[in-house]
Amino acid sequence: MKARLHRPTPANLRRLATVLRDGGLVAIPTETVYGLAAHALDTEACRAIFRAKGRPAHDPLIVHVLDLAHAVELAEFNDPARRLVQAFWPGALTLVLPKKACVPDIVTSGGPTVALRSPAHPLARRLLKLAGVPLAAPSANPFTYISPTTVEHVRQGLGARIPHILDGGACPIGVESTVLDLSRPGRPRVLRPGAISAEQISRVLGTKVATVRRAGKPGKRLLAPGLLDKHYSPRTPLRAVANPATTDTGTAVILLRKPAGQARVGVYWLSRRGELSEIARHLYRVLREADASGHHQILIEKLPPTAGGLAAAINDRVKRAAAKR
Ligand code: TXA
Ligand code: MG
Repeated sequence: MKARLHRPTPANLRRLATVLRDGGLVAIPTETVYGLAAHALDTEACRAIFRAKGRPAHDPLIVHVLDLAHAVELAEFNDPARRLVQAFWPGALTLVLPKKACVPDIVTSGGPTVALRSPAHPLARRLLKLAGVPLAAPSANPFTYISPTTVEHVRQGLGARIPHILDGGACPIGVESTVLDLSRPGRPRVLRPGAISAEQISRVLGTKVATVRRAGKPGKRLLAPGLLDKHYSPRTPLRAVANPATTDTGTAVILLRKPAGQARVGVYWLSRRGELSEIARHLYRVLREADASGHHQILIEKLPPTAGGLAAAINDRVKRAAAKR
């Protein structure tokens, strides 16, 4: 199979919506990263997602919906969940809630909860509307590799295994959504930091929000598979350090800000002036470029721990990308 790239014309969107409704796979742009989408209520279609990604069955899928009216058909919403939907949907917040019976086991890895998100990306929304079904969509990359933020990334990783990619250009946020467990409404927990910070969530709920650090006990269904220590990883060994410098020609260096002076071989940068949203947007593309550059090691500059906001998500991804295999 060789993936076809589709420009987002009205005719192509209609065609891809039909593919999805009929149980096929389509890689789609979202505001965070590209997702590999399938009809969420079709067990066979969801099975094809796991196969294409090489994803283990114990790692559950996020279901994408147009809005709250569609979400309540899939999960039991509590009051905090409704308040967060009001504040952050459509957007980069995924809510984990008790699932309703119509959600197939394959989506939730057999668990009692389902993860739901309403994407803000206009093309994802057009497809959801045209398909008229909820779409399960994990990031469109082979399991444990770096998530894709461009169609080229999707093509490199899954191009030989999926039939369709919708071209929506580069993803504007660049790191995955915040996953928040609200299945126990009094005890909200961030399972994966993302674009919406724990502080923002806390402000809306008026309660403290914990952040879970561990994926769960080995052998058990994972609490948060996104917290697997090794995830989002380049093949080249990566280390995060405070002041990276090229020590030899075999080392690539990723800086937070564009350095002064001439561009140098093996030196990459994530932003012009250190702005967090720009760093997040470029992180995965630059990691991939450094990974493909033939260096035997990559050093990436650490963010100051006090940076706040998106910094938690960026630090989290860098830490996992750097984890030993
Ligand atoms: O931004 C995003 O969330 C992207 C775009 C495509 O929407 N999707 C994404 O999906 O990152 P994926 O499959 O790569 O990550 C899904 C994460 C997993 O890390 C898992 O921990 C969590 O969502 N998850 C899904 N269902 C869950 C559940 N029922 N309970 C706990 N965590 C769940
Ligand atoms: Mg992923």
